[in-house]
Amino acid sequence: MTEFSPRYLKDYQVPDYKITTVNLTIELDDTKTVVTNVMEVSKVGVHQRALTLDGEHMQLMSVMVNKDKLTASQYQLNESTLTIADLPEQFTLTITTQINPVANTALEGLYKSADVYCTQCEAEGFRRITYFLDRPDVMAVYTTKIIADKTSFPFLLANGNKVEQGDLSNNMHFVTWHDPFPKPCYLFALVAGDFDLLEDSFTTKSGRVVKLELFVDKGNLSRSEHAMVSLKKSMLWDEQQFNLEYDLDIYMIVAVDFFNMGAMENKGLNVFNSKFVLADDLSATDDDFFNVEAVIAHEYFHNWTGNRVTCRDWFQLSLKEGLTVFRDQQFSADMHSSTVTRIKNVKIVRAQQFAEDAGPMAHPIRPEKVMEMNNFYTLTVYEKGSEVIRMMHTILGDDAFKAGIKLYFERHDGQAVTCDDFVAAMSDASNTDLSQFKYWYSQSGTPELSVSDEYDAKSNTYQLTIEQNHPETHDKQEKHNLHIPINVELITSDNNLNQGGLLHSKQKTQTWTFENVFTKPVPALLGNFSAPVKLNYQYNDQDLNVLMVNASDEFNRWDAGQKLFAGYIKQLVNNAELELPMQIAEALAQVLNSDADNAFKAEQLVLPSFDEMAAAIDEVNPGALVRAISILKRFIAEQLQSKFIATYQSLCTNEFAKDGAAIGNRALKNVCLDYLALLDGANELVLNQFNQANNMTDQLAAIKTAALNDLICFEDVMVEFARQWQGNTLVMDKWFSINAMHNNENVVQRITGLLTHPEFSIDNPNRARALIGAFAFYNSHYFHNKDASGYKFLFEQLTKLNAINPQVASRLITPLIQFKSFDNNHQQLMKVELEKLSQLDNLSRDLLEKLTAALQ
Ligand code: ARG
Ligand code: ZN
Repeated sequence: MTEFSPRYLKDYQVPDYKITTVNLTIELDDTKTVVTNVMEVSKVGVHQRALTLDGEHMQLMSVMVNKDKLTASQYQLNESTLTIADLPEQFTLTITTQINPVANTALEGLYKSADVYCTQCEAEGFRRITYFLDRPDVMAVYTTKIIADKTSFPFLLANGNKVEQGDLSNNMHFVTWHDPFPKPCYLFALVAGDFDLLEDSFTTKSGRVVKLELFVDKGNLSRSEHAMVSLKKSMLWDEQQFNLEYDLDIYMIVAVDFFNMGAMENKGLNVFNSKFVLADDLSATDDDFFNVEAVIAHEYFHNWTGNRVTCRDWFQLSLKEGLTVFRDQQFSADMHSSTVTRIKNVKIVRAQQFAEDAGPMAHPIRPEKVMEMNNFYTLTVYEKGSEVIRMMHTILGDDAFKAGIKLYFERHDGQAVTCDDFVAAMSDASNTDLSQFKYWYSQSGTPELSVSDEYDAKSNTYQLTIEQNHPETHDKQEKHNLHIPINVELITSDNNLNQGGLLHSKQKTQTWTFENVFTKPVPALLGNFSAPVKLNYQYNDQDLNVLMVNASDEFNRWDAGQKLFAGYIKQLVNNAELELPMQIAEALAQVLNSDADNAFKAEQLVLPSFDEMAAAIDEVNPGALVRAISILKRFIAEQLQSKFIATYQSLCTNEFAKDGAAIGNRALKNVCLDYLALLDGANELVLNQFNQANNMTDQLAAIKTAALNDLICFEDVMVEFARQWQGNTLVMDKWFSINAMHNNENVVQRITGLLTHPEFSIDNPNRARALIGAFAFYNSHYFHNKDASGYKFLFEQLTKLNAINPQVASRLITPLIQFKSFDNNHQQLMKVELEKLSQLDNLSRDLLEKLTAALQ
C-alpha cells in the first residue's frame, strides 16, 4: 500500500521563494498537451535552501534557469516534487511539461470530457498542470496563451482580460489572457470548447460596465437565463449590503457536464457543474431554481471573500468558505422567505453536519491535520463555518459586523490570511472581546446544552440555568467551554409576555434571572438556531403547543413542532404500539388553518428526516427508525385526511407561475400529497398528478411519492418519465435517484441493472451521485437492509470509483463510515465492507484517510 503522511497546521512556514509572474503557453492536445511555464522567481530572505516545486501525474520535458537548460543531474525529480538547488537571488524559471487530459478521470488539473477542455485547480490541481509552489500564499500575476484547433475549440478562455488573439497554421488559433490581480494558483482556470453564449452586462455603482458571459453546451441557451438573472441580482446585492463592487471588465461562467463539485470561483472565469446553471420551467424544480441562484451567488461573492482576500494555507479554508456560505445564505434569505431559507440551512446542519461531527472524520472548522485536502470540503468547514460567522453576526449586530468586514478588507486586500486575522478585524472594529469565541475555530464536536428553569410566583421571577457539555469526539480533542449566543423568547399561553433576548453562555453552568414575570412562561430557546448546538430541555406537549402557536418568531414556531414530532418518533422507535395523542393532529390542524404563508406551512408539516433523527438518537436501529417515522406519518395522515384532501384540491391549478406564492402553493400541495399517499386512493391521486403536471416540481413529486410508497403506478410513471426526458441528462439524474429511492426489496437489483443503462456512466460524477449516492444517502431502509446487500453494493461501486475518481468515491463512502451511529449488528456489517475496502492495493489517499480514521 502507498504511504501518505498527514500535514499539520502547526508546521506552517512561510515559503522560501516567491513567484511573482507566471507566463503560460498551453498547446492543447487530447493526450499530449504541452505546457510551457515561464516564471519570475525570487528568494524570500537570504538563504541557500533549494527550491522544491510540487508536481504530479505529468511528464517533465525541460527545466531552464534564466538561459540555461538544466541537465537531469542538476535537479531532483520524484513522484510529487521537483527540487533545484544552487539558485541565484532572482531568476527566470522555465518549465515545460506534457500532460494527458483524456486520461484524467479524476477531474483534477486539466481534463477533457464531453469535448471540452477544462481545469479544476482547487485545492491542489495546479500541480497536475505544471511544477509550481502549489500553496495559496504564493500569489502571482498570470498571462495565459491557449493554442487549439479553431473548428473544435472556437472559444479559448482563461482568467482576466483578453489581450490578444489570432490564427495560426493548420487551422489552429490562439488567445492570450492577462489577469492583473495577483492570485494563488488554485484560482487559475482554462476552458476550451464550442458553446452557445449568453451575453449581458452589469453597470457597477461607480459606473463601470462589466461584460457578463455565460457559456453553455450548444442548444441550452433557453435554459441559461435564470443563471444570468441570478448573477446580476448577486452583483447588486453585494454592492448594497457590503459595498463590494466587481473589479475586472468581464465576468465569465462556463457550465460543464463533468465536475466533481458544485462550482469554482476562478478569478473572472467561474466553472460550474451544469446542474447549477441550467434551469427552465419544464425541466427544473423550484428547488433547482433556488439552488442555481444560491450557487451563482456563492461563487460571485467569492470574488471578494476568497479571491481579493484569500487563505494563507488550506487549514484556513473556512476563512473563505464559511464566510461565503454565510453571505449566500443571507442573499437567499433576502430574495425569498427568510424563515423558510433559514429552515433549509438548519436542517442541513442538524441532519448532516452533526453526523459528521459524531463520526470518525470529526474536525474543527479549521482542521489541524490533513492527509488529502479534498476531504476537507466538508459540511463542517462550509455549513458549520457559516454558523460560526452567523454567531459573530448575532453577537456583534449587523452594523458592527459590517464594520468588521470593512476593516478586514482595508487590512487584508490582496493578501493570503488566516481565520485569526478575520476574527481580529471583527473584534477590533466592534471593540468586542472574541478570545473565548475563537475556540469555535479549533474545537470539533457538537456542544450540548442542558437547560432547566424555575418559576417563583411569589417574587414573579423566572430563572433559566444553562449547562454546556462537550461530548468526546473521534479526534479525542480536549474541550473548552465556548461562547455560545442563545436567543431566548419567554412565551406564555395568554401571550402577554414580551421578554427574552440574547444570552451569552460562557461558563460550564450559568443562571439568568428574569424579573416581573407574572405567569410561568415557556422558554423558546435557541431562536433562529442562534448556535450550532443540541439542546435538552424537558418540554411537555402542552409547552410545545404554546410555542407552536404563540412564539412571535416563526422559526421558533416551526422548531417547536419539530420537537413535538421528534419526541414521539423517539418513543415509537422503542415502542411501535405507542398510542399517539390527538393533540398532535390538532396542532397540525391549527397549522393548516393558520394564515401563515404556504411555504412556511409546508415546512411545519414535514416530519424530521431519518438523518436528523439518527443524529439525535444513540445506536439507531435503522429499520425501527424508518418504521417509527412512518407510524407517526400515517397517524397524522389518517387524522387529517379530509383537511389534506381539501388543501390539496384547493392548490391544484392549471396555471404555472414562479413567484413566491406559487412556489409555496406547490410545496404545500406536495406535502399534502406525501401524507395522502399513505391512504386509500393514493395510486389514482399520484397518477393523476403525474399526468396533469405542467412543471418539474409536480412531476417529480409524483414519481417520488410513487417510489417511496411503492405504489402500483410506480413502473408505469417511471417508464413514461424516462421516455419523456431521455437525453436530458440533468432530468435523467432525477430519474436515476428516484429509482435508487424505491422502497422495495428489489431495489438493489434494480440499481445494479441501471449501472448498464445507456444514459448511465460511472465516470460522470453527477450520474454516480444520482444513482449510487441517492441509494446510500436516501434509501435508509434498504441501504441498511439486514442482509447487508446495500453495503455490499456500495462496496462494489466504491472499488470502481476509487480508481476512476477518488474525490467522488470519498464523498460516497460517508454513509458507511458513520457506522457508529447504528446498533451493533449494523455496525459489524458495515465494518466488514470498510475492512474489504482498506485491502484494495490501489487505495487512493482520499479513501485511505477516511478508512484509517473509521477503522482505528
Ligand atoms: N471553492 C469551491 C466552492 O466552494 C469548491 C471547490 C472545491 N473543489 C474541490 N475539488 N475540492 O465554491
Ligand atoms: Zn465556496
